[in-house]
Amino acid sequence: MSRTEWWRSAAIYQVYVRSFADGNGDGTGDLAGVRARLPYLAELGVDALWFTPWYLSPLADGGYDVADYRTIDPAFGTLAEAEALLAEARALGLRTIVDIVPNHVSDQHPWFKAALAAGPGSPEQELFHFRPPSAEPPNDWVSEFGGVPWSRTESGQWYLHLFTPEQPDLNWNHPKVRQEHEEVLRFWFERGAAGVRIDSAALLAKADGLPDMPADGGPHPFHDRPELHGIYRTWRRLAEEYDAVLIGEIWLPDPERFARYLRPDELHTAFNFDFLARPWDAAELRESIAMTLAAHAPVGAPATWVLANHDVTRTVTRYGRAEDTGFAFARKRSGVPTDLDLGTRRARAAALLSLALPGSVYLYQGEELGLPEAEIPPERVQDPMHARSGGVDPGRDGCRVPLPWRTDGDGPSWLPRPAGWERYAAERQSGDADSMLSLYRTALRLRRAFRDAGGLRWLPMEAPHVLSFARTVPDGGGTVLCVVNFGPPEVALPAHRELLLASGPLTPSGGLPQDTAVWLRA
Ligand code: GLC
Repeated sequence: MSRTEWWRSAAIYQVYVRSFADGNGDGTGDLAGVRARLPYLAELGVDALWFTPWYLSPLADGGYDVADYRTIDPAFGTLAEAEALLAEARALGLRTIVDIVPNHVSDQHPWFKAALAAGPGSPEQELFHFRPPSAEPPNDWVSEFGGVPWSRTESGQWYLHLFTPEQPDLNWNHPKVRQEHEEVLRFWFERGAAGVRIDSAALLAKADGLPDMPADGGPHPFHDRPELHGIYRTWRRLAEEYDAVLIGEIWLPDPERFARYLRPDELHTAFNFDFLARPWDAAELRESIAMTLAAHAPVGAPATWVLANHDVTRTVTRYGRAEDTGFAFARKRSGVPTDLDLGTRRARAAALLSLALPGSVYLYQGEELGLPEAEIPPERVQDPMHARSGGVDPGRDGCRVPLPWRTDGDGPSWLPRPAGWERYAAERQSGDADSMLSLYRTALRLRRAFRDAGGLRWLPMEAPHVLSFARTVPDGGGTVLCVVNFGPPEVALPAHRELLLASGPLTPSGGLPQDTAVWLRA
């Protein structure tokens, strides 16, 4: 692993530990399960693994309510196992990225417990945002999960939580909050983590005095505050001591403001949610790609491409719906007619599209198996978004169902696997050259040859329903073309020397059918 800027073109696989692989058969994924499946991940051909929070947590928000960053949740294993996992992964060529959740902690974190015990006016409470008792909440903010982001303590004080009441927000004006996070970063970098994914990275700083939302479109009191840039500059200096990478979870519609976080002395990369949020449409995706590349170029940061994560509707399902039902936070839907064959065809084409683009790419576990979104019976739903929406939103559990590994079934699981889920089992797909898993394996292997090529060049052959571009590897490394047909009319392939990979069968006359993508060697 000598390439120092590996993150510029890496393929990073998101492991949601609770649902990845179950080593002890109790129905909950764990580190033993991950360690047993490291060869699977190496064979898939990714470069790094990002672990969603695996720390001690009451799991009020799937682990994004951290009670102790230096302890692995006993449901998942031990710190010694995590250290062994990092070493074993590294031996297989896989780097590890851990998740840091700086905006809030669990209400079971020792700091919050101490703050409640110490009471109003205490230094312990200064680490959070407490306000004196009053009839109405202290301001008019709305929680990221919907509803009022303020709850009362037993003594009637208010405390702020942008997410659930079990996730009190930290006060980032307090030096102790900053220092603790720097120490947590060091803790994991010392153990060999190659980087961190920063949860809710644009939310931690709050306007002084926590004012109401501005009526006139003035600066937002808790999104994208200018103070954040100083925090990330400090983190960048720290990360560079370890040659580690900072990856921001930043949902910001304005690409120019987004790119400010990626200036050379701030974060290395950030998730490109614009791409994920677009429907399956040539013009939309082309616009997103062009806008993304244009926004990143001035700051010299690589783009990222994301089709799925643990918060959004699975790709196969959302591309299989006639109507765009939305797939970001609080906008999932159950009971929407979905054509999974169509969704799968499109997801296969989308895989080749995203893996051909310049930058790094994220895969969410199960994407490589073509898993659809599962519909979870309401009484089994655990995601707090469901209850917070008054049961209107099914929540995010539908993309968090434990992976199917074995053709003959996998035993108990904390969320029910839908009937017939065995047909997606990794074991079955592994031996099938036409499976989604085989497509991802082949694409990730081929991608290594051109992922470090420069930018993309749009090809002139474009019809409005086609996206096609070239990536040229310098010094005679050849040119790879990616052509995606959003159809319906079939498309003749541009001149080429070799068909490298197709997401589905070509037409009898060798044309590219609708909802199909190819990689060609020019
Ligand atoms: C991030 C996570 C999400 C979590 C939230 C609060 O957006 O991706 O799963 O619920 O932050 O930590």
